[in-house]
Amino acid sequence: MILAKDIIDDKNPLLREISEPVSLPLSKEDRQSLLDMFEYLRNSQDEEKSAALDLRPGVGLAAIQIGLKKRMCAILIYDYNEDNEIIGETAYALVNPKIISHSERMAYLKDGEGCLSVNEEHEGYVPRYAKVTIKAYDALTDQEVKIVARGYDAIVYQHEIDHFDGHIFYDHINKENPFAPIPNAMEI
Ligand code: NI
Repeated sequence: MILAKDIIDDKNPLLREISEPVSLPLSKEDRQSLLDMFEYLRNSQDEEKSAALDLRPGVGLAAIQIGLKKRMCAILIYDYNEDNEIIGETAYALVNPKIISHSERMAYLKDGEGCLSVNEEHEGYVPRYAKVTIKAYDALTDQEVKIVARGYDAIVYQHEIDHFDGHIFYDHINKENPFAPIPNAMEI
């Protein structure tokens, strides 16, 4: 089981390294790592478990964040209704995800992004594509998938895929003016 102590932070230079493609069919070890990463996300978003295990909630986790230089990430985004009840979920354990196309239009989170590997707050807008199409192998369903993601979900995928190339969300924040308007962008 992955715990908070297993997640490396941005003081660790490993986080800046380029992750390597994963060979398919998936090895037992890679599959287990991915499923452990996915389980972390599930536990971290469960109120009782996250309190008991002292986990910081996350919707995405890249393998490099647990020290594995592999192009794999887990994604777990819940949909909530007005009463804050879970009514659906987007769940993947992705191998070699790649953005194959994206919108011209941009998007950013008005409250900025966070990362399980970043302990300090970094305020500012992170420009992302508003829509992305991704191809990957999904270890939860054991098939090739093509994912079309918009808005918040699109941002999550871009954040995780960035980790494969050693990028951290705050690299994208305008240093002179962190809240400078982003042209042609929708605020989320
Ligand atoms: Ni991150």
